[in-house]
Amino acid sequence: MPETLSSQEIVRWTRELNYGTWRFQKSWNPLHVVDAEGCYFTDSAGKRYLDFSSQLMCVNLGHKNPAVIEAIREQAATLPYIAPGYATNVRVELSRLLLDVLPQGLTKFFFTTSGTEANEAAFKIARMYTGRTKIIARYRSYHGSTMASIGATGDPRRWAAEPGAKGQGFIFAPEVNCYSCPMKHQYPGCDVACADYLEHMIENESDVAAVLVEPIAGTNGVLVPPPEYMPRLRRICDERGVLLIADEVMTGWGRTGKWFAVEHWGVQPDILVTAKGITSAYMPLGLCATTGKIAGYFDDHFFAHGHTYEAHPLTLAPAVAAIREMQRLDLVERSREMGQYLGQKLNALKAKHPSIGDVRGLGLFWAVELVKDRQTKKPFNTKADKVANKPMVVDQVAAAMMKNGVALQSWISHFVVAPPLIIEREQIDAGVAALDQALAIADAAL
Ligand SMILES: Cc1ncc(COP(=O)(O)O)c(C=O)c1O
Repeated sequence: MPETLSSQEIVRWTRELNYGTWRFQKSWNPLHVVDAEGCYFTDSAGKRYLDFSSQLMCVNLGHKNPAVIEAIREQAATLPYIAPGYATNVRVELSRLLLDVLPQGLTKFFFTTSGTEANEAAFKIARMYTGRTKIIARYRSYHGSTMASIGATGDPRRWAAEPGAKGQGFIFAPEVNCYSCPMKHQYPGCDVACADYLEHMIENESDVAAVLVEPIAGTNGVLVPPPEYMPRLRRICDERGVLLIADEVMTGWGRTGKWFAVEHWGVQPDILVTAKGITSAYMPLGLCATTGKIAGYFDDHFFAHGHTYEAHPLTLAPAVAAIREMQRLDLVERSREMGQYLGQKLNALKAKHPSIGDVRGLGLFWAVELVKDRQTKKPFNTKADKVANKPMVVDQVAAAMMKNGVALQSWISHFVVAPPLIIEREQIDAGVAALDQALAIADAAL
């Protein structure tokens, strides 16, 4: 029994019997975590860590929210599983709540057990509905780990899946990145040419079913688009009869200071995909939400998709509780307010540390991007370094923060600062102070 094992043995067995995700295995030395509450988790030695990225930007309510835990308990005692072909109370309760909190127009729902699978559902629905194949995604993006969703992913996690991933019908547009534009343009003089280029792609590719975007690219750098970008994409898609899919797996559920990021620009997607914060990650749940127009098509056409765990009652009950908790605690507004405070603090760091090239974000969703040279914006490390297991400066900074009791996600050349939405000012101060201290490592590497 695990309880009789020492902490060292737990770590050793974990390494020996399990795969560590997205990494070389030999260097995996997982921390043995035994507890988590609020904005903190605790290791086996009793040391507490401030969870400054909400694990994988998903524990939006913080750890051990009692209402969500109770909802899981109650559902387990009432109806832990029933096949997706049946109607259940919890399914209707969640679906009706979703009508209240999702952007308008999204009225029919397919439930999955991950963001990856929710994207897979979106791709199949878009292809069945339009009768077309291609989906335009962007290079700075992550959409999931299975064959189609990794094929849609622009970041280097796709490389290992090729050439198979190439056969999935995804093509890549330049990302919107006003700090470091891939086309070397400057906003606003560019007139958002990156959006117009998508129109050029649609025109020249033909057979395009959908455009797929994270409204604010998440793991790949919290890239907040300029105000014209999303409305322009909406117009281009409408004029060309192409669907717009918003991947809000990370940006949903109050993370950016709105329930969903598309609301910042008043844009209604045809399909919205989400997961993570929907249950505050206590149970694995994903959602693919479509318009009534798309739904209507399947009234008289075969809906060729499903899973054993679709609408699994144990995954739905915590979502009902999580949404109610977000409403009760007014967490969307809190994310907006506390996000301003966090943004100010991070921008103050930029003034102090020459290794910071850019600080950007919305709500409680921020990136701190490191550069070797502010003028050239050259990063310390590249995508190729990441997949070749080269030592990364961001990882060294994050490791120093861990030693000081603050956990922060790093990716190639930036950090994603995304604490639970319940975070207090003093906790933000503590997290930013740890980053301030650890950035001495990056400054010294200039
Ligand atoms: C934007 C986005 N889409 C999809 C996914 C995949 O979700 P999951 O890991 O739940 O499969 C992620 C995960 O980080 C994500 O950030």
